Amino acid sequence: MNNPTQTAEDPAVYFDPLSEAFRADPFELYRRLLEEAPVHRGAMGAWFVTRYADVATLLRDGRLGKEFTQSSFFDELEAVTLQPRFLERAPEDPDKPFLLCDPPFHTRQRALLTQAFSPAVARGMQADIERIVGELLDEAERKPDFDVVADLGDPLPLKLLASLFGVPAEEYDEYAALATTPAGALDVLQDQSPEAVAQRRAELEALQRYFLKLIERRRAEPGDDLVTRLLNAAVEGDKLTDGEVVCACIVLIVAAYGATKCFAANAFLMFARYPDQYDRLREHPELAESAVDEVSRFEPPVHAVGREATARIELDGHVIEPGDTVMPLIAAANRDPEKFENPDVFDIGRANHKAQMGFGVGIHYCPGTVLSKPAGAALFRELAKRYRRIRLADAPVEYKPGFGLRGPEQLHVVFDA
Ligand code: HEM
Repeated sequence: MNNPTQTAEDPAVYFDPLSEAFRADPFELYRRLLEEAPVHRGAMGAWFVTRYADVATLLRDGRLGKEFTQSSFFDELEAVTLQPRFLERAPEDPDKPFLLCDPPFHTRQRALLTQAFSPAVARGMQADIERIVGELLDEAERKPDFDVVADLGDPLPLKLLASLFGVPAEEYDEYAALATTPAGALDVLQDQSPEAVAQRRAELEALQRYFLKLIERRRAEPGDDLVTRLLNAAVEGDKLTDGEVVCACIVLIVAAYGATKCFAANAFLMFARYPDQYDRLREHPELAESAVDEVSRFEPPVHAVGREATARIELDGHVIEPGDTVMPLIAAANRDPEKFENPDVFDIGRANHKAQMGFGVGIHYCPGTVLSKPAGAALFRELAKRYRRIRLADAPVEYKPGFGLRGPEQLHVVFDA
C-alpha cells in the first residue's frame, strides 16, 4: 500500500485512510480534500467524497449499494489490515446481516427491526440507562487507574444491550463472555491463523446458541424486551424467523459495541481537551443532547460508510463506474464549512447540531440512535453532576489502527471532584 507523504509543501492530495498521516490527523487531510479534491480517487481505487451536500445526496442514492458484489475493495482492505469481514456475507444465506444488504432484503429486515426497536422502547429503558451509567461511574471512581476505553466504553454497550435484550441479571456474565469476541469484530486487527478464525467462529456459534435459548424462553414466557418484540414484529403478516432474530441481535451487538466504545472515549477526550465546553455543560446540563451531536460531528467513531456503485454516476465532473467503491466520508462532511460555521471549533451548543452525519444518512441511518443518544446524554449529565474537571493522564493519545472506527486505544483520565 502506498503511503504518500502529505505535507503542506506537497500540493497533490492523495488520500489513503490506512496511512500514518490519516491516523495522526484525519481532519487535516479532510480539510485539504474539501478544498482541493472533494471527489477524489485515492487508495485502493476508491472514490472518497467529502462535501456535506455530496455525501447527503450519495447516501440517499439507490445507485449505491452495500453488498459489494463487484468491488474488490474489501478484499484489498482485508489483505492490508488483516481486518476480516465481520460475519460472513453470503447473499444466499437467509440469516445474512442486513446492515450489509440492499433493498428489498434490507427494507424488510429494517422495517421489522424498527418496529421492535422504536424510540418508545428506548424511552422505556431510561431508568435502566441511568442506573447503568451511574454504576459504571461508581466503579470508575474506585479504580486508581481508570481507562475510559476498557473500564467504561467496553461494558457500557454490552450492559445497555443486555437490558434491551432482556438478558436476566444472573446470566449477564455468561452473555458478556460470549458476546465480547463477536462484538469486537469491527474493532480490532485480528489474528487470521486458521486456529484463531476457527476459535472466533466457535464463539460466534456459542452466542447464536445463547440467543436461540433466549428465544425459546421468550416464546414460552414473553417479556418486555427486544427478543420478544422481534419475535412478534410483523409487517403485512411477514415475520422474522428464529435465525433472523438471532442474526438481528448479533448485528446490533457488532454495530453497537465498537462505535459506542469509541464514542465514550472520544467524548471524554473532548471534554478534557476543551474544558470551557465542559464548564458550559456543567452550567447548562440541558445541553447534554446537543453535546452528543457535537461529539458525533467533531470526533465521530465512524468516519466512512463504504458503498459500491451499482450503476454509472456522474459527480462533480467525475464518472463513477458500476463496481467502483465509493467512500462517503461522513467525518469530513461534518467539517464542511459550507454546512457548519467554524467547523473546527468544538461547540456543544451549535445551532444546527442535528445536521451532523456521525450516525449516517439514508436507509442505513443508525437505528441505534434511539438508544445511544439518550445513553450519551445520560452519561454527560452524570459526568457534569459529579466532576468539576476531567483531565487526561495519557499523553500523547494513541489512536487505534485501521479505518473502521476511530477512537483512542486507551484513555486514562483523572476526575477532579
Ligand atoms: C455512538 C454510537 C454509534 C455510532 C457513532 C453509530 C454509527 C452508525 C453509522 C454511521 C451507521 C451507518 C452505516 C452505513 O451507512 O453504512 C450505523 C448503522 C447501524 N447502527 Fe449504529 N452507531 C452507534 C451506536 C449503535 C447502537 C447502540 C446500535 C444498536 C443498539 C447500533 C446499531 C446499528 C445498526 C444495526 C446499523 C445498520 C443499519 C442498517 O444497515 O440499516 N448503532 N451506525
